Amino acid sequence: MKNSLRDTPPRSNRSASIIGTGSYVPERIMTNADLEAMVETNHQWIVERTGIYERRIAAENEFTSHMAAKAAQAAMENAGVTPEEIDMILVATITPDMFFPSTACQVQRQIGAKNATCMDVNAACSGFLYCVEIANQFISNHGCETVLVIGADKLSSIVNWEDRNTCVLFGDGAGAAILRHRPGSKGVVTTYMGSDGNYGDILHMPGGGCALPITRDNVDAKLNTLQMNGRETFKQAVTSMMRAANTVLDRCGLTAQDIKCVIPHQANIRIIEAMADRMDLTMDRFHINLDKYGNTSAAAVAIALDEAARTGRFQKGDPILLVVFGGGLTFASSVIEW
Ligand code: ACO
Repeated sequence: MKNSLRDTPPRSNRSASIIGTGSYVPERIMTNADLEAMVETNHQWIVERTGIYERRIAAENEFTSHMAAKAAQAAMENAGVTPEEIDMILVATITPDMFFPSTACQVQRQIGAKNATCMDVNAACSGFLYCVEIANQFISNHGCETVLVIGADKLSSIVNWEDRNTCVLFGDGAGAAILRHRPGSKGVVTTYMGSDGNYGDILHMPGGGCALPITRDNVDAKLNTLQMNGRETFKQAVTSMMRAANTVLDRCGLTAQDIKCVIPHQANIRIIEAMADRMDLTMDRFHINLDKYGNTSAAAVAIALDEAARTGRFQKGDPILLVVFGGGLTFASSVIEW
């Protein structure tokens, strides 16, 4: 018999629902043909190994906070929420405009959310879902009424454009969601989050912090760019996303077949195919946009969620599954009643 979220007991007397979403991607498109002119690669290799056809690249004077604010404005409009009603802004990013003030504070200034408490969360590509659960905790515990959660990254600013192993994978963008308690809806039903610092070195940017500060030598050695062991990252991505997805489904008493739409991290089509295979789902159950945007890090699952919601991939009351993975290592999954 088909399982239903109606059978799942609530965790507390209230939880957070996503009441609106928004997203933004920069205008400039960089195709695989453009990359062929920059490094030794080709369209066929990129498509076969990753599924990516093109990605968006922000202008030099377009920062993470600008993209985040545009996504936030779209989400506020979609939710029918004014800036003054927002009492917390969480921005997931690994490419803040600067070390401090936080990107969240800069978004606050740009959108005029004067009543909000603001902070950034660094969990790489898992950051948006980490923030959704932080918002859920604050709302469930009556600490906040309305929380704006944003995933935003300008990965093009930390990519080594001479490294074909990484530069073909990433793009820029932002996605946002407004969370609030919605009576009668379970909202965020269950989230599982995890990290494994032992694998930090497989995907990292070693320079720019206090360990390897910005010096001429460190910049010349490209230590202020993203470095990745692709094969190991691929393996860890599949293992940890499956662990996260299975754990939340188990906790809700649901099976993968009960889920209306899966929104996975958008890193590589082969990672999603491996998950579909293990979950015994067909690919049409997954919302995929990495062909258009590449991997936009913390923004990826947020942009995909906004697109899926706006194109009617699921309706109010449907159970959806979000599942992410990122540097750290970090991973998370949520079952959400839409
Ligand atoms: N064009 C052409 N050839 C290339 C390119 C390129 N862009 N990049 C690598 N190659 C070559 C390699 O040099 C290698 O050549 P060799 O056999 O002569 O040494 C060959 O292609 C195969 O390389 P692999 O690394 O084994 O290729 P693989 O099939 O593993 O694909 C990829 C590489 C796409 C990076 C894959 O490993 C992957 O997607 N990994 C996961 C990445 C990921 O998810 N990262 C983001 C995590 S989220 C976050 O926190 C930002």
